[in-house]
Amino acid sequence: MTLRTPLLRVRDLTVEFRLESGPPARALESVSFDVYPGETLGLVGESGCGKSTTLMALMRLLPVSGRIATGQAWFEGETGLHDLFALNDAQMRRVRWREIAIAFQSAMNALNPVETVGDQIREAIQLHEAVDRATADKRVAALFDLVGIARNRINDYPHQFSGGMRQRAMIAMALACKPKVLFADEPTTALDVMVQAQVLDLLKRIQRELGLGVVLVTHDLGVVAETCDRVIVLYGGRIAEAGTTDSVFNRANHPYTQRLLEAFPDVALSSERLVSIPGAPPRLNALTPGCRFAPRCHKAFEPCRSEVPAFWSVPGSDPEHVAACHLLDPRWEGR
Ligand SMILES: Nc1ncnc2c1ncn2[C@@H]1O[C@H](COP(=O)(O)OP(=O)(O)OP(=O)(O)O)[C@@H](O)[C@H]1O
Ligand code: SF4
Ligand SMILES: [Mg+2]
Repeated sequence: MTLRTPLLRVRDLTVEFRLESGPPARALESVSFDVYPGETLGLVGESGCGKSTTLMALMRLLPVSGRIATGQAWFEGETGLHDLFALNDAQMRRVRWREIAIAFQSAMNALNPVETVGDQIREAIQLHEAVDRATADKRVAALFDLVGIARNRINDYPHQFSGGMRQRAMIAMALACKPKVLFADEPTTALDVMVQAQVLDLLKRIQRELGLGVVLVTHDLGVVAETCDRVIVLYGGRIAEAGTTDSVFNRANHPYTQRLLEAFPDVALSSERLVSIPGAPPRLNALTPGCRFAPRCHKAFEPCRSEVPAFWSVPGSDPEHVAACHLLDPRWEGR
């Protein structure tokens, strides 16, 4: 058991999207995790498994059709852990960017094309903090240094930057108000391999320097292996397996994680996107009982289609390593 205090604690987060007709889509169910200072937590899984929904729910930026059905979240504020979901909109605006910030996949969409990058970052600072222009300008220059962009590019427009520089600028923007937690949703997916590696190195360095907690969403298990201390594997909105990256990758116990890793044989070297595994993810508005992976699982047996599997420790692994699979349930041992 760890005695560290998390920067962010999430418990039983369940998110639903209203659809035009029929029952809502349950995009996330009972998701729990902690984010600690100075660590990178990876969120992985196929498209539609709920990675972005997790981040957007915690930023309280879900579209109007989405709602947090149940769950709690606390972030570390000045006086200990604060209830994130109890904040009103004005309080949440203060928490966003100052406590938790997000960097998206597409820097081009996040940056305003008709304003210089420097001005945008300065405005972000001045919007959230009562600092004069000269102080804000100094902060912008320091942020450019931090993300490795020459200061003489401060007055450039986004289109004058390369893809990698725009992604660095977006990271600078996300860090403008000194958050403790950074969410990065596929921050390097649009970049070529070399630039991707540079941006990931940058994230790692910044995270160490600033003691940030980073939640990194990615399709790429190679990126997880390189970057993440711990990893959560999501399937159909539920956590399938979670633990230290080393343990999950070397002693994967959930058949879905095993399939993911098989589809990605050389995790340490590969930079390819995840290849899909046979079958399709569940329809979230017509969920069947039991394990969500059952229709695709080559190891499914009697209880899988009727009972939701509990989380079980993975034998011989670190205690944090858990998998939600009936195969680990002592009731079914030796079946
Ligand atoms: N606005 C919405 N209305 C209805 N359903 C939605 C909405 N946004 C997301 N969903 C559903 O929620 C599920 C989770 O979506 P989410 O975007 O979190 O997936 P993801 O893991 O980030 O996928 P990707 O890797 O493609 O970015 C999906 O099945 C999606 O269909
Ligand atoms: S609970 Fe059953 S269906 Fe689900 S992953 Fe385990 S064996 Fe497969
Ligand atoms: Mg996404």
